[in-house]
Amino acid sequence: MCGIVAYIGEKEAYPIVIKGLHRLEYRGYDSAGVALINDKLNVYKCKGKVADLENFTKDKDKSGTLGMGHTRWATHGEPNDANAHPHVSQDGKITIIHNGIIENYHPLKEELIKRGHTFKSDTDTEVLVHLIEDIQKNEKTDLAEAVRIALNEVIGAYAIVVISQEEPNQLIGAKKGSPMVVGIGTDEFFIASDATPIVEFTKNVVYLEDEEIAIIRRGEELKIKTIKNKDKTPYVQELELHLEALEKGGYDHFMLKEIYEQPRSIMDSMRGRLNAKEGIVRLGGLSDYEQKMINADRFIIVACGTSWHSGLVGEYLIEDLARIPVEVEYASEFRYRNPIITEKDVVIAISQSGETADTLAAIELAKSKGATIIGICNVIGSSIPRMSHAGSYTHAGPEIGVASTKAFTSQVTVLTLMALSLGRKKGTIPESRFRQLLSELELIPSKVEKLLKANDQIEYIASLFKDSRNFLYLGRGYNFPVALEGALKLKEISYIHAEGYPAAEMKHGPIALIDEEMPVVFIATKKGAYEKVVSNIQEVKARKGKIIAIVTEGDTTVKSMADFVIEIPETEEELMPILSVIPLQLLSYHIAVMRGCNVDQPRNLAKAVTVE
Ligand code: F6R
Repeated sequence: MCGIVAYIGEKEAYPIVIKGLHRLEYRGYDSAGVALINDKLNVYKCKGKVADLENFTKDKDKSGTLGMGHTRWATHGEPNDANAHPHVSQDGKITIIHNGIIENYHPLKEELIKRGHTFKSDTDTEVLVHLIEDIQKNEKTDLAEAVRIALNEVIGAYAIVVISQEEPNQLIGAKKGSPMVVGIGTDEFFIASDATPIVEFTKNVVYLEDEEIAIIRRGEELKIKTIKNKDKTPYVQELELHLEALEKGGYDHFMLKEIYEQPRSIMDSMRGRLNAKEGIVRLGGLSDYEQKMINADRFIIVACGTSWHSGLVGEYLIEDLARIPVEVEYASEFRYRNPIITEKDVVIAISQSGETADTLAAIELAKSKGATIIGICNVIGSSIPRMSHAGSYTHAGPEIGVASTKAFTSQVTVLTLMALSLGRKKGTIPESRFRQLLSELELIPSKVEKLLKANDQIEYIASLFKDSRNFLYLGRGYNFPVALEGALKLKEISYIHAEGYPAAEMKHGPIALIDEEMPVVFIATKKGAYEKVVSNIQEVKARKGKIIAIVTEGDTTVKSMADFVIEIPETEEELMPILSVIPLQLLSYHIAVMRGCNVDQPRNLAKAVTVE
């Protein structure tokens, strides 16, 4: 979603801001803009990519050591030049960039119109900068105070940066609901929606809390106050992020790089948490809450998209190994249906970004009812971990491709560790089974490595099916969520319609779709309901569907029936999703590339969905 970057210091702001906007491109956007203050304020913005903005500003005055930039993902008003940020005040002196939604913008706008304000865009953001200007003029305050008063009148979510031509030595940031991080360099400061534009300049950052305002003045220390005017001491943290993680490192796309990173990212999710030889599984972040989890009436997993799919795998794992009842909920549905939540419930929020608005709202609701909140997130310092009682980071490293890949396998890895640890403590897993799963889990990264060698074969299969109009993905048991995930991957990056189903459900409807035009991807690995899946394959074959099957190495039964098979190494049934999803990621990737799609930034999608 929208990206924010701002700079104040001794260097020219424009190159830093533009580079920062490129780093934020992964979040998804449809227009971009910058504001720079030298003696006067210059604002440049246009529909399209950051490269279009660079083109647009080619011959313009880009000087100034105070500046900010924005990538916009349209919410109020279509993506066009006028609606792009920054927006300016009536007198053209104050300018704002904003991520989030001002819900009460309409009455505020009507009031401002009555007071003589005119608006150039359809956005809620423009209303906010006019409101700040109006307050500053009427209350005769400085800019920081006007921002503070304005934010007390606003309902909704925001991460904003405000600068003014009249106060050219000052940068103001504030947030509620949407993320914001301040970077502290030597004689320079940065503000951004996440740390990616900051990491090459400084490792010292402060994550703003909700309703905090950062007031940054040249030559002074960072000041933070709340919108209720309470001073706060900035808590400076050191970034763990490395610059290489934000580069493509020789791969054509971030998505491919991230698929190939999985042996390492899965290992990183287990590092220091698993010792098969000694029979130890330990999720340090959960230790204070483990007893509460063991005594829970049930777990409720809330998540969206790919994270919801890993939640489904989590349900199988936790019920199977720890015998704790689990419900998996779409966060967006859960929060609006008056769910029954008690103090004996444990709510697990799964999120790569840690910023997904629906997931955040779901845990806010559960927390207000007394439930214990456990976060499983990737982005360190993001909102969900900060709002949770306890949790485990997945440590997959930055995921830049919009389509989630390594985040999924890392989430499933952490859920596996959690289920094993709880099962051990509850005594619901026999010792020998526990040891077997631990040893096998340790081998997963090397099995992923081996499995990635099937890339060329998968690319070939992709070339044969790239023009298909529909796909069906079928799996059972642990492989059912993988079928859902495979279908989601394909539709989001290649724009081919795809559905995932439990294989046995096929005959209750989707079988009507099957003809010689319909590719059906079966996840038909050994163990579990293998024999049943084989019967489902036969049903598709009898109707001339084209079968692509993911099978366990050495399988001959399915091979004799399927049009194409992709072999994956053998593992325990519980761990299979971590392997079986990988060929599906590669299949989607190659199909999307062959169709000329923008793999890393698919149309209409955003990396962190910070609006409902
Ligand atoms: C799919 C994808 C989305 C996200 C979903 C939740 O590839 O990326 O479906 O999984 O928007 O995002 P997080 O995990 O950040 O909460």
